Amino acid sequence: MTFLRIIVFSVVMMLFFQGFSHMLPQVEPDTSPPVEVSTDGLDMAGMIALGEELFSGKGTCTLCHNGMGRAPDTLEMDLSAIFFSRLGDARYTGVAAGKDGAKAVEGYLRESMQDPSVFVVAGFGKKGSNDTVSPMPVVDAAPIELSPVEMNAVIAFLQDRAAFEPTVPLPSADDVPVAGDAPAVDAALTDPVDIIDEYGCAACHDLNESGADIGPLLGGIGNRMSRALVMEAIIDPNAVIADGFDADFMPDDFGETMQLSELIVLSTYLMELPEAAPVAAGDDEGPASTAIEVIDAYGCGGCHDLEGSEGDLGPNLGGIGARMDRAQIKAAIIDPEAEIADGFEGGMMPDDFGDGMAESELILIVDYLMNLPE
Ligand code: HEC
Ligand code: HEC
Ligand code: HEC
Repeated sequence: MTFLRIIVFSVVMMLFFQGFSHMLPQVEPDTSPPVEVSTDGLDMAGMIALGEELFSGKGTCTLCHNGMGRAPDTLEMDLSAIFFSRLGDARYTGVAAGKDGAKAVEGYLRESMQDPSVFVVAGFGKKGSNDTVSPMPVVDAAPIELSPVEMNAVIAFLQDRAAFEPTVPLPSADDVPVAGDAPAVDAALTDPVDIIDEYGCAACHDLNESGADIGPLLGGIGNRMSRALVMEAIIDPNAVIADGFDADFMPDDFGETMQLSELIVLSTYLMELPEAAPVAAGDDEGPASTAIEVIDAYGCGGCHDLEGSEGDLGPNLGGIGARMDRAQIKAAIIDPEAEIADGFEGGMMPDDFGDGMAESELILIVDYLMNLPE
């Protein structure tokens, strides 16, 4: 089974990088010239504003520093009290240990960003490291790569939040201009279907009716996982591996490529996805691809005379296209109790096809019935 998955996976990956690569623009090298913003002449208020933008944008800080418990919820905390206690913490031996005031806080912040393991906030260390190794990336190195001016801007922003007068130097004409936030220049997508398209989720998960089964079915995920866990599964897929699946299949860079607002829209959408189709015939082959398979899978022939089954518990469906239109046939399948066929009783035809059937299957069976001869 695993072997099969690997083959399927390789095929999917080939498709990714050939045909579908246009669906994943962020995978292609960005050839457009970076938007450059000169910071020459920026005053401290401008630096603070730039820092705020970097914190949720290019810096990706809010992917971890939020209310989900991956990292301290920095923007919600009383930072002046926090910094005061960090600098006086017995475990802290870094550049600002034992000092206080705005300059010491600048030192602590710069060090936190360049060398996160110098002091690991209790409870947030890498698993098994006993709070000696920080999971936080070095933010002035790849892939986040904040420039010196950008580092200063983020520090100014956090100092300001802690009610300190920022102590960082203002940028000069010699500083490299701040490179425009390339991925963020694209307006964030707001429709979950577009987001799924953009990031290629449907190549592995049965989303946007793709029928893919390399990754787990996500229908009904809201019943078994919290929103925070769903978000984590997207940005840090190897933190928890879904039962029956292997690690390292799902791309682990959505945390960098996806915009936070997109992650929120996407996770909301996934939380509300209805329970997946009880897969017909007990296999995991995904939705049927012909009308005959649909009939077999859902047992329509047991009650209707279809494909020579001679079922007679339900009406004969021959020529139904002449007396009902598509919408009516569809309604008769997904909501059989709404209209009861003449001469038959309600409560007999299963009323859960609307939940169980994939939209693609419904289209197949309606097409088939529309064309079924008398
Ligand atoms: C991949 C997740 C992640 C990202 C991205 C991240 N951090 Fe962190 N950060 C953490 C974790 C976890 C901690 C707590 C462990 C530690 O102290 O190193 C932390 C700690 C910190 C601290 C010390 C907080 C305190 O309460 O003393 C600062 C300051 C900080 N991060 C700033 C930033 C900034 C600024 C960015 C963006 C440029 C950023 N982080 C991006 C995970 C992250
Ligand atoms: C290349 C294949 C692939 C792509 C692309 C992919 N995933 Fe996954 N995904 C997997 C696999 C395999 C797993 C199961 C292993 C694991 O938990 O990491 C998984 C697990 C998940 C889970 C956790 C499910 C559970 O039951 O625990 C969620 C949620 C998820 N993916 C959402 C997404 C979203 C949203 C996208 C697009 C942004 C996406 N995936 C893109 C393969 C993929
Ligand atoms: C357990 C028996 C049973 C099964 C299984 C069943 N049906 Fe029915 N079906 C009925 C009965 C009884 C009626 C008539 C009562 C009603 O309209 O609800 C009916 C009515 C219909 C109608 C409306 C016919 C009309 O003339 O108004 C359609 C269309 C239909 N079924 C299609 C299907 C399809 C497609 C399937 C398989 C996906 C299916 N049925 C499975 C028993 C069944």
